[in-house]
Amino acid sequence: MKHDSLFQSFTLPASGIQLKNRVVMAPMTNSASHENGDVSDDELAYYRERSGGVGAVITAVANVTEDGIGFDGEVGVYDDRHIEGLTRLADTIHAEGAKAILQVFHAGRLAPLHLLKGGSPISASAIAHTDMEGKDLPVPREMTTEDIQRVIQAFGEATRRAIKAGFDGIEIHGANRYLIQQFFSPYTNRREDQWGGSLEKRIAFPLAVVAEVKRAVKEHAQRPFIIGYRISPEEHYEPGITIEDSLYLVDRIADESIDYIHLSTMNFFEGSIRDQNDTRLPTVRVHEKVGDRVAVIGVGSIHTPEEAARALDTGVPLIALGRQLLVEPHWVEKVQGGREGEIRQAISRQAGRETLVMPAPLWNMVTNAPGWVPVED
Ligand SMILES: Cc1cc2nc3c(=O)[nH]c(=O)nc-3n(C[C@H](O)[C@H](O)[C@H](O)COP(=O)(O)O)c2cc1C
Repeated sequence: MKHDSLFQSFTLPASGIQLKNRVVMAPMTNSASHENGDVSDDELAYYRERSGGVGAVITAVANVTEDGIGFDGEVGVYDDRHIEGLTRLADTIHAEGAKAILQVFHAGRLAPLHLLKGGSPISASAIAHTDMEGKDLPVPREMTTEDIQRVIQAFGEATRRAIKAGFDGIEIHGANRYLIQQFFSPYTNRREDQWGGSLEKRIAFPLAVVAEVKRAVKEHAQRPFIIGYRISPEEHYEPGITIEDSLYLVDRIADESIDYIHLSTMNFFEGSIRDQNDTRLPTVRVHEKVGDRVAVIGVGSIHTPEEAARALDTGVPLIALGRQLLVEPHWVEKVQGGREGEIRQAISRQAGRETLVMPAPLWNMVTNAPGWVPVED
């Protein structure tokens, strides 16, 4: 079969869970959950439409504490009352044949003030985020030791809820500048206690979260359960995370018997964002570092089956598709069925969001951000 490499099954190294093929749905926030964090029917329809071909669906990120919220309409996993809706979400994904993985995080200093109900954002250190327009967000409160323990435990509680809801696994979101990355980054972590300072101390929080999630799985899971960890391999600012820092972190995580490390890059085929002369692919470097100890998922601007096959040809075992599954929910089925000619290349405003089964907030977000996702009238 053409593009055969995409459709080979893959067994995750720690849980032994088998994915039916090499393509997973990348986590994408859809901003369509209810205000209290409950899953909405619109979201279920959106996932149902996209769960038929991929080996696994990684959900939109869910916040593990109330003060860890990052977006309006975010799905919550911070309270037992969320379990019911999360169960419907896992069931919906399973009914279409994919494994269901819940992505979890704390937004840290990126929690918007209007969602914090009067509270202040928290982070490793009291360093404000500067947004794309050069404007500073509010200065976060530096977390106390008690805050740190509370948030670590919340990742364990989120894991328990994901297990109860019937998910096959969780992905710890250590990427995209949220709290876990804020501890790892020398820019946002200026602490001088056990949680910051040297590289070794900057990885203490990420590793403590991994340990707590593993503990929760051991205590609550009656069957194998996937644990993944997402990283942004570099930060472009100074002082920022370097690829060497990340290789050190993934090496340590690979010794923790988890299933996969998922890179967060905007273009799989692009070299370092810190050093234009370094054309080595960060995802491939991570894969070389961890070997077979842990699987690697690569992502970023993969649109065609040829690009997907080329990414897998590097030896990286799994790839994720994000925007392409917004544009073409049935990408995998069409490639597998030899119907490549039918793959949509852009979101059509005229065809409307119902054709693509997209919740209104997500539709508005992607159709109003030129250059992010291809859109035609
Ligand atoms: C609408 C949208 C929402 C996203 N939300 C998340 C998210 O919740 N968690 C996350 O780790 N990445 C998120 N991402 C990043 C994607 O997972 C992915 O890494 C990125 O889009 C690059 O892959 P692509 O070129 O296949 O889209 C989001 C991307 C998009 C387009």
